[in-house]
Amino acid sequence: MARQLTFHIFRYNPLDSASTPHLQDFFLEETDSLTIFIALNRIREEQDPSLQFDFCCRAGICGSCAMLINGRPDLACHTKTKDLPEEITLLPLPVFKLIGDLSVDTGNWFRTMNEKVESWVHTDRVFDPAAEEERMDNSLAEEIYELERCIECGCCVAACGTANMRPDFIGAVALNRIARFIMDPRDQRTDQQYFEVVGTDEGIFGCMGLLGCEDVCPKDLPLQDQLGMLRRKMGWNAIKQLFQRKG
Ligand code: SF4
Ligand code: F3S
Ligand code: FES
Repeated sequence: MARQLTFHIFRYNPLDSASTPHLQDFFLEETDSLTIFIALNRIREEQDPSLQFDFCCRAGICGSCAMLINGRPDLACHTKTKDLPEEITLLPLPVFKLIGDLSVDTGNWFRTMNEKVESWVHTDRVFDPAAEEERMDNSLAEEIYELERCIECGCCVAACGTANMRPDFIGAVALNRIARFIMDPRDQRTDQQYFEVVGTDEGIFGCMGLLGCEDVCPKDLPLQDQLGMLRRKMGWNAIKQLFQRKG
């Protein structure tokens, strides 16, 4: 017999002064391979057209459907209801600005983060579209690609206690981004320049090693390896600077 699912869904429209934050209950019969994404679409089509939530690719690629699913940040499009109990609570991701109901503005947060860590290859080489790109060792290209798989969903940020307490903390996603540039031989930034970007309380020294980021990353990015590498690298840099100041 099909299960009867109860969805407790966060409702609030910050633009409407009459709106107050509350949970609204919706009921749905479970069908084969039902995902949270499909369930939300059915609820919107059949029960309440005003329900707000985001999606685009429906395939775990665009990162726009992240939300708190029974308290855990995850993608609605790749979470099956069969893996959840009959009662499902859906809340918007914390940390990010609420647009309405389950929809949050991750775009501005990620743009600010990308600008802060200057998330692009810094090189003085003049780009020549006709020139053959310099070859990179295959295994290094694969290592960089592994870190490039981030879809900017925001789950790691929402799961991080530091990011929830400190709006200036750049989060594991930004630290992973910098680790990717440190590995890239085309990026000509010096250790000191990397240090200025992430060797701060807003960066790697703000991370308290809470591990939530890697636990929830839907793309299974090796975030802890990158955080460990940055902690060692930036730690040595900080000690070096201390001795230089004393000397
Ligand atoms: Fe999402 Fe993982 Fe990227 Fe964080 S690192 S934004 S959890 S894909
Ligand atoms: Fe946050 Fe991950 Fe560090 S959860 S505190 S960025 S280990
Ligand atoms: Fe694109 Fe879920 S809709 S990741």
